[in-house]
Amino acid sequence: MNRATFVVDFRCKAMEQIKSRYDVESYRKDFPLLHTEMNGKPLVYLDNAATTQKPQVVIDSIVEAYTTCNANVHRGVYRLSREATERHEAARATVAKFIGADSREILFTRGTTESLNLVASTYGMEFLQPRDEIIVSTMEHHSNIVPWQQVALRRGCTLRVIPIHDDGSLDQEAYRSLLTERTRLVSIAHVSNVLGTINPIREMIAEAHAVGAVVVIDGAQGAAHEVVDVKELDCDFYAFSGHKLYAPTGIGVLYGKAELLEKMPPYQFGGEMIEKVTFEQTTFNTIPYKFEAGTPNFVGSVALAKAIEYVQGIGLEAIGAHEKHLLRMAVDEVAPLKGVRLIGTAPNKEAVLTFVVDGVHPYDLVLLMDQQGIALRSGHHCAEPLLDRFGVTSTLRASFALYNTEADVHAFVAALRRALSFF
Ligand code: ALA
Repeated sequence: MNRATFVVDFRCKAMEQIKSRYDVESYRKDFPLLHTEMNGKPLVYLDNAATTQKPQVVIDSIVEAYTTCNANVHRGVYRLSREATERHEAARATVAKFIGADSREILFTRGTTESLNLVASTYGMEFLQPRDEIIVSTMEHHSNIVPWQQVALRRGCTLRVIPIHDDGSLDQEAYRSLLTERTRLVSIAHVSNVLGTINPIREMIAEAHAVGAVVVIDGAQGAAHEVVDVKELDCDFYAFSGHKLYAPTGIGVLYGKAELLEKMPPYQFGGEMIEKVTFEQTTFNTIPYKFEAGTPNFVGSVALAKAIEYVQGIGLEAIGAHEKHLLRMAVDEVAPLKGVRLIGTAPNKEAVLTFVVDGVHPYDLVLLMDQQGIALRSGHHCAEPLLDRFGVTSTLRASFALYNTEADVHAFVAALRRALSFF
């Protein structure tokens, strides 16, 4: 056996082992909402790119935090407040370890959108100059377009856009030609929420750094499916949301390199972010607190840490392998159906299946699926320029998570066939 064959064989065996150990039925039991009905049919939840369901341990952690140690963090010296503070900071350490960062580099936000807005309003508005260039890509979510468009408008910068190939992969040659000494900032998705494409961010980050640009990664669809090590990636900022990672809504993360966070101005003012206030002037707290105005979402941070521990208990690699297996099954069944056009067929992609059907409006189809208990998303998925690129205004999207099963795929395909028979 030559080395290449050995490596492939070894990988296949490792994958098989991961698959055989993956106990999806027991994970499903952890998610109460999966065992309910929708429109009188067992719920098949396939809108995980929008938000994931929550395991009981995460739901319990919210109740437990409010029941046993609710107090304002970083404010009181009494025991309850100290305990709440310790748990909030322990949650920060869990998040930091999850992505290979230092705790000082983890800012809690409301979610990816706020994280991206924070970088745009602080780094962008402070350090970008007229005629500087910002690069985003065609596949960005509106939350990674509009904040940069606003910075460009207010600071007199130019927004450049990386084009996309027909399979939904970014045109890397075009990217390299957009990078010049004028490029000051590159902000791209780790994984597209519509196409599922996993971008080669490590290489793209190195290329941006070679021209002196800082790089922001929108990890909303990345952190729940890929192992992320921000030091190894060498990204300057990485943003993600709790609610797509089995944690509650209203809690998110911005990682930023300490040396950048140190020199950035604060985002909002008041509360924990101050050091000393007089009517003449105010000085600010150290990082990360400088960026956390107001009472922090302490219960959210505790629940996020619990969700991270839950996911780590299964293993992100095993989760990714399982989800990709379901995607392959679904693609094999859906692609041959009459009139179906898949959008996003890049070789390296997460478990997101987006498609349109000739002569059928996605909204009508999604309602017929809803009646059969299947939860899918239709619409523009907050990525209108991307849909324009593919000549559509709306699509259907099925997206998979750690608790989806082969039976979910069969139910989805059967319901789709039934729905299509009405047109
Ligand atoms: N950005 C989320 C999605 O793709 C809401 O559905």
